[in-house]
Amino acid sequence: MVGEKQRSRLWKAGILKRMFAGIMIVGISLFCYLVFFQAPGHFVYTHANTHAQCMIPQINPFDKDILAFFWQPDPIVCTKNTELVYIDDNDTVHINYSRTNLEVVNCSCQNIIRETENDNEVVFRLPVWFSKSSKLTSDFIKVQCYDYSGNLLYERLHYHIHKSRKNFTSDENRFSVLILGIDGIHFKGICKSWRENTFPNMVAFLAGRIGYSKDFPVDPNVFFDKHPFIWNNFSKDGAVTMYAEDWPRLSTFNYAVPGFNQSPTDHYFRPFYLGINKMRKYQSTINEALLFLENQNIKVGETSTLCYSDKPKHVLQLDYFKRFLKSYRNKLKFGLSWLNEISHDYVNFIKLADDDLLDFLVFLKEGGYLEKSVLFF
Ligand SMILES: *[C@@H]1O[C@H](CO)[C@@H](O)[C@H](O)[C@H]1NC(C)=O
Ligand SMILES: *[C@@H]1O[C@H](CO)[C@@H](O)[C@H](O)[C@H]1NC(C)=O
Ligand SMILES: *[C@@H]1O[C@H](CO)[C@@H](O)[C@H](O)[C@H]1NC(C)=O
Ligand SMILES: *[C@@H]1O[C@H](CO)[C@@H](O)[C@H](O)[C@H]1NC(C)=O
Ligand SMILES: *[C@@H]1O[C@H](CO)[C@@H](O)[C@H](O)[C@H]1NC(C)=O
Repeated sequence: MVGEKQRSRLWKAGILKRMFAGIMIVGISLFCYLVFFQAPGHFVYTHANTHAQCMIPQINPFDKDILAFFWQPDPIVCTKNTELVYIDDNDTVHINYSRTNLEVVNCSCQNIIRETENDNEVVFRLPVWFSKSSKLTSDFIKVQCYDYSGNLLYERLHYHIHKSRKNFTSDENRFSVLILGIDGIHFKGICKSWRENTFPNMVAFLAGRIGYSKDFPVDPNVFFDKHPFIWNNFSKDGAVTMYAEDWPRLSTFNYAVPGFNQSPTDHYFRPFYLGINKMRKYQSTINEALLFLENQNIKVGETSTLCYSDKPKHVLQLDYFKRFLKSYRNKLKFGLSWLNEISHDYVNFIKLADDDLLDFLVFLKEGGYLEKSVLFF
């Protein structure tokens, strides 16, 4: 039997749900309207002869019509709530007791594993409990920590490189290939098609094929696994491979297409982002609207949409790349890191990543990683 109190609660929940849906619909419509009609102009360059050699138009970036679109966005502010656990270079997660004031009793660690035959779902596996440290068995984990009375103190996803047991080739006689891409900008993208540019370009440089042609058919029901991506060639030659791209809903091989059945590379960052979205369904749904507001320097919450917990997402992705390089020092490598969110829709955010990109390049140089690799940036 449903009690009076419970019924009224259910009724309220129903109303709230509908109100929420209503607000969402109004919000999204308003957002599309703004993007369509209020966004600044954009420049489209099309070569009349699509088979001719590629040409890059010469535009004066200091033209006053162009300068009008540039302004300084507010710095990215993430939560001050720093990480309670850290992962060392030896596959082990530790509780950071100098950060806890000896408050924590125990933590649980769940592997985040991608579902097979589905590039859009991850599962959080059974928790493993620890009160000091724990050996890791996958790249991505969900950590929850509880105090003495069982209150949840901390909940966050963490990443690292869980070193494969494969015996990879050394880079003694060959160069590794490292690619750090920042997706181009085009306004008005969101309510139209996102991928009219990136997809064919990525297919060209990653598979040497023309996207949508009979050499690289695109079928919304067929995974891309059989396509001749260059990372397969590297794997065949004994290299260790990595692919990281942010913005899971819109990433190149997943937007309106099914992505990969098996993990395409030895290390694949996508499940980490899927895990984040699984944890914050509400925020990930309105992510684009929040970015739009943030671009206008309008504050919605305390922290930026460009963050995950205490760091900007592009920093996490660069850090994953660093860990990949450190873990496989002296091995032949193929690494691809592709950033979308910070650059795709709004030209001005990318400035905010300047220092982090510089830091990454310095890391490559000083760590000696450029001695035996070709970097595309
Ligand atoms: C790495 O972990 C293994 C297994 O827990 C341990 O035996 C070894 O001493 C650790 N190495 C370092 C450098 O901490
Ligand atoms: C542990 O926490 C302290 C205090 O917040 C911090 O200074 C330190 O860097 C942390 N250690 C690691 C290894 O993350
Ligand atoms: C962890 O601590 C909580 C709170 O004290 C307790 O309920 C739980 O049983 C503990 N779990 C393990 C595996 O010790
Ligand atoms: C790894 O490969 C190298 C060269 O191919 C070989 O010399 C070495 O014995 C291999 N190591 C293991 C653990 O299989
Ligand atoms: C990569 O491998 C495919 C399939 O074996 C081959 O057709 C292609 O030529 C290779 N590409 C390069 C650049 O070696």
